[in-house]
Order: sequence, then structure tokens, then C-alpha cells
Amino acid sequence: MDKREEMKKIRDEVVALGGALAQERRANGTLPVLGEGNHDAEIMFIGEAPGKNEAATGRPFCGAAGKILTELVESIGLTRDEVYVTNIVKDRPPENRDPLPDEIMLYAPFLDRQIHIIQPKVIATLGRFSMDYVMRLFGLESDLEPISRGHGKAYKLTAPWGSLHIVPLYHPAAAIYTRSLRDTLDEDFKVLLTCLI
Ligand code: URA
Repeated sequence: MDKREEMKKIRDEVVALGGALAQERRANGTLPVLGEGNHDAEIMFIGEAPGKNEAATGRPFCGAAGKILTELVESIGLTRDEVYVTNIVKDRPPENRDPLPDEIMLYAPFLDRQIHIIQPKVIATLGRFSMDYVMRLFGLESDLEPISRGHGKAYKLTAPWGSLHIVPLYHPAAAIYTRSLRDTLDEDFKVLLTCLI
């Protein structure tokens, strides 16, 4: 199966998924958000869960936080088409509440498969839920710190497909409310490029 077909299979499975968020999606006539970008991307961004705009369009990071993410990606000389952007949870939690542990458990296997399909050189986690999940997934639980200390650090490891850096970043939505975090994100994005050298 090629990468496109494998991604399509994941989409079909999420579309048909059980669980409260998927049921709510079907009741509301909104969309699951699988991910978007280059299936051969060197950098993969992993956020938390879709918000209102994302569930309405089926596209990740297409609202206010998405605008910031796009600017940050472009600030390091890349475009959104060149990277891959997804979330842990593929359906919108009501009222944009934090995802529950059970919801993360339900959707995470789809993310794990996406990571193995893309085989990125760098995974940039956006926000603490994604940092927590991805660092544990790759055996870095003993390196976990609060995001205020872990952001912008690059953790190097060997994944089944080769060398991988994990770089925890603040969630771009945090920069909407706290201007200084935008400066921090600008600086931390430069770290992503150093991981590709
Ligand atoms: N916040 C996220 O974590 N993901 C999105 O896709 C949009 C906002």
C-alpha cells in the first residue's frame, strides 16, 4: 500500500469510529480532522485536537492559531505544503475543552500510524498534551519537564526509520494571548532547522 492509501485507510477508520466525540461529530454534521501536508515531510507538527474552524472544514490549524503556525513555518523558509500537520485527537472536543485521557488513548493509535507512514526527521509537538504523548511514545518519559522548561529543546533518538529529533514547542494559540510567547516560538522554530542539518 502506498502512503496515500494508508492515510486514506486511517481516514476511513476514523470516520467510522465510535466514542462520544465521533458521535457528536456525526450528530453535528462536522468533520474529522486527519492531517494535511506532505506525506514525505521532514518535519511533522502535532497539535492537540481540532477547534471549531477545523471541525467545520476538516483541515488542521486553519483558524487563528493556524495563522500563527503558518507564519512560523514560513519564518524558517518552509511552506505548509512542505511539512505535515496533524493532531493527537482527530475530532473536536466540545467547547474546545482539553482532551480527556480516554480520548487521547482512543485516537493515539491513528497518530502512531501516521508517524510511521511519514517517517519524519523532526517531530515538533505543539502544546503540553502533544509533548507528553509523543515523548512517552518514544521512551523519553524521564526527560519530561513542564513545557516552560522543555520548549525549544531537541531530543535526538533513533526511530525504526532512522534519526529523529523531538522538539517540544508551545502551542501557537498561547501566543495569541501572550505576546512574549510569540517571540519564544520564533526562537524555538529556528531549532527545527538545526535538526535537519
Ligand atoms: N489547535 C490544535 O491543537 N489543533 C488544531 O488543529 C487547531 C487548533
